[in-house]
Amino acid sequence: MRVLVTGAAGFIGSHIVDSLVEAGCDVVGVDCLLPAAHTGAPDYLNPAAEFHRADLRDSASLRPILAGIEGVSHQAAMVGLGRSFDDVTDYVTHNDLATGVLLKALAAREFKGRFVLGGSMVVYGEGAYECVEHGMVRPQPRTALKLDAGEFDPPCPRCGRNLVPLPIAETTPTDPRNVYAATKLHQEHLASIFGRETDAPVTLLRYHNVYGSRMPQNSPYAGVASIFRSRLEEGRSPEVFEDGRQLRDFVHVSDVARANLLALTAGFEDPGPFNIATGHPKSINDMATALAEANGAPANSPVITGRYRLGDVRHVFASTERAERLLGFRAKVGFSEGMRAFTQARLRESRPGDHRRCSSVP
Ligand code: UD1
Repeated sequence: MRVLVTGAAGFIGSHIVDSLVEAGCDVVGVDCLLPAAHTGAPDYLNPAAEFHRADLRDSASLRPILAGIEGVSHQAAMVGLGRSFDDVTDYVTHNDLATGVLLKALAAREFKGRFVLGGSMVVYGEGAYECVEHGMVRPQPRTALKLDAGEFDPPCPRCGRNLVPLPIAETTPTDPRNVYAATKLHQEHLASIFGRETDAPVTLLRYHNVYGSRMPQNSPYAGVASIFRSRLEEGRSPEVFEDGRQLRDFVHVSDVARANLLALTAGFEDPGPFNIATGHPKSINDMATALAEANGAPANSPVITGRYRLGDVRHVFASTERAERLLGFRAKVGFSEGMRAFTQARLRESRPGDHRRCSSVP
């Protein structure tokens, strides 16, 4: 199968290329190598795959690249939370417009292969919560007043009681709370409509907190695992925000790559979305501790700072039941094993101070 991987030079996209090559696919990678993210083509690009430096928004460049393509894994996106609302047009152009141009070009070719979208759990906003009195509820965004007082867990919006966080299922209504999240949800909508109107099978994947080699390092906008790893490498302690008890699902990039392979070759009709995660939530403090221990740096044990980022959600972790049942996906890399390997993994250098990244989600 000849497969196109967009965002092929990025953290997740490059691992998908490797997995597809290993599975015997004929792989075509495309990436715009946005100067804010890349100093040039990274040296980890798989030599067995074709690579094109091209901007997806440029349909003329895209047209010849799509010749003979039988499957698409769409990973290219500008990631992270951005600096301020000023970034809105950058996110919209790289995530929404680029996806629109790609889908239009595929429709023009009467593409009938599978289109897999690398989406994100960020579309959920807060995770799922249950109140003993009111059942499943959707908490309000947390206020600076409450966070300053160390009240990190969002209360029941109806009675103010403490809530129990639960795994989030794909049926939960989406609630994008930042520009990036809104564009990731829009990508899902565009891909679904493309599928309906062209009869091309579409699969939507929602990645949880992905970690592994080639993660961009030393950037305040990188995921927490990479930030902690970079600090430990510099002989500094990981700085844990809030009380460190916030829960996430850390999934290894090799599992995310395998989920793409499964989605591309699946013989089913269900478009998802599917949570791509391990099903085993961990606290940020668990993660910081595991990394520090695996790094053999007891002097740099994590520091719980009580500081917070107003835009952060408290808990979000996955139900993996649907992905297991329909996609046959189950993460293979366990938390301890993955974190141990991560301490040795090579990270990708990012430009100091640059927050913009045009690469793979999340
Ligand atoms: C991240 C991504 C999001 C992506 C999602 C799913 C960012 C900014 N967010 O969201 O785009 O869709 O994963 O893959 O890339 N923390 C610390 N210390 C730090 C940095 C962070 O304790 O130095 C805490 C945060 O307060 C938060 C948690 O770690 O509670 C996770 O933060 P982060 O890695 O940014 O991820 P998400 O918010 O889960």
